[in-house]
Amino acid sequence: MSDALPTESAKTRQMVVNGTTVPFADATVHLMSPAMRYGLNVFEGLRGYWNDDERQLYIFRLQEHLERFDQSIRLLRFKAEFRMDAIADATLGLLRADNHRANCHIRTTAYLDGIGEHHVTGPVSWMVYAGPRPRGKKVESGIAAHVSTWRRMSDNALPPRIKCGANYANARLARFQAQIDGYDDAIMLNDEGKVGEGPGACIFIVRKNKLITPSVTSGILESITRDTILTLAQDRGISIEERAVDRTELYASDEAFFAGSAAEVLPIISIDRLPVGSGAVGPVTSLLQKDYFDAVEGRGNLEKSWLTPVWNT
Ligand SMILES: Cc1ncc(COP(=O)(O)O)c(C=O)c1O
Repeated sequence: MSDALPTESAKTRQMVVNGTTVPFADATVHLMSPAMRYGLNVFEGLRGYWNDDERQLYIFRLQEHLERFDQSIRLLRFKAEFRMDAIADATLGLLRADNHRANCHIRTTAYLDGIGEHHVTGPVSWMVYAGPRPRGKKVESGIAAHVSTWRRMSDNALPPRIKCGANYANARLARFQAQIDGYDDAIMLNDEGKVGEGPGACIFIVRKNKLITPSVTSGILESITRDTILTLAQDRGISIEERAVDRTELYASDEAFFAGSAAEVLPIISIDRLPVGSGAVGPVTSLLQKDYFDAVEGRGNLEKSWLTPVWNT
């Protein structure tokens, strides 16, 4: 599961740094900055979806991403001088300036700039990048996951609720272990040994026609896709449980999938080499995946309050 940026095309792009549009090569940070030395940054990853019928690019749940971004900034005690409106404007401005008329992935990061130790509160800089990011190759066929021996950090140590770069050292350990051991990705248990999330996505299982996902107090990121899936499932009349999930429920599940802005809806067809259900992508997963793609791409009669249009049509 390589998530490398397409470097050559990235180099031709522009970025917004502290409200100014600059060439990709000029978007740099000092080696002595707390962002660099301690990984002191918070970020969001969003997707833009191109709707060809409407000739429109939609940013999916921009408002909710910015609310979480703001929360991460506050919880990590960054003293930011900017407002979320400026980030929203910069995001739209960048997509327009770069003439984005295809699916894209947007990175929004706030970081401790300047030169300082890990306890400084500023200066806080921010940047926005947008570039291509293809859909995962296994989004249709599904992936093989395992339960990692690496635990997700607890809310009392390095809270997953804060979407900060440093948290991804933990995610990295789990993903590498999974891949070295021959799996596509990892499922991480939380500090209490209950199911937490993946290195870069939240997790759902289906058991006996119920859609089950760890509660937001399970030491996980408050995923926006998780909220989206729960809403879509509710609209379908699927019964939902948000609660602590045992490890063995993973093995006993009929279906399982990861969900996240980057991962989208990614079926899990085996866990620790045990087939999930029949070992094929299940009906609830397929239905919710279809609903998710319809929602993000602004198709059908779904209401569009989650979508921010980029172009004035
Ligand atoms: C650790 C982790 N959990 C869950 C998610 C899913 O969050 P969201 O749906 O807000 O993208 C992500 C994706 O960013 C993540 O990195």
